[in-house]
Amino acid sequence: MSSIDEDMVDEIRRLLDRPILLVGLMGAGKTRMGREIAKVLNLPFTDSDDEIEKAACMEIAEIFEKFGEPYFRDGERRVVSRLLEQGLAVIATGGGAVMMPETEEAIRNKTLSIWVRAEMAVMVERTSRRDNRPLLQKGDPEKILTELAAKRYVIYEKSDIVIDSHNGPAEAILNQALEKIRNFLRYEKRRAG
Ligand code: S3P
Repeated sequence: MSSIDEDMVDEIRRLLDRPILLVGLMGAGKTRMGREIAKVLNLPFTDSDDEIEKAACMEIAEIFEKFGEPYFRDGERRVVSRLLEQGLAVIATGGGAVMMPETEEAIRNKTLSIWVRAEMAVMVERTSRRDNRPLLQKGDPEKILTELAAKRYVIYEKSDIVIDSHNGPAEAILNQALEKIRNFLRYEKRRAG
């Protein structure tokens, strides 16, 4: 079993100057990965879906049902914009957040962005464990996720880093993520001179 490289963690902490933000489809593992990255880097973790629910005092499914998707998207845009102002942190976003042009621009300019990518079968299996995602209640989840992938991957792939999330050993995936973050920050520093 691999263990966490403390020198790598220290270097990331020294170089990081903005929030780390995770994007990716439902079931890709953004929340889990975000929590783990936040824990090893000793940073606060926030999930934008949780913040939307707190602000609305309602679950996401209920917001969609009562007020519709555009209302949810507007709340999501405001919540993500607020979260980006909180300083160093790790933020997991809902799968559609980055599709709002204003949010996408803010993510590009103000965060170190990570696309958490997973195989379709993995996302289908993970999302089937709960029925809390209104977009997947409208038909065959695999078909819906495939359609969303076709629209969204062109945006997700503009992220600074891509991390593959599979059902393998969590620590190995986390180490790989940390290494990519460290390498990206090193590259940025070199480029800045
Ligand atoms: C959505 C993803 C969900 C949640 C909402 C809509 C989407 O978050 O924001 O149900 O449009 O992909 P997760 O990606 O965390 O499941």
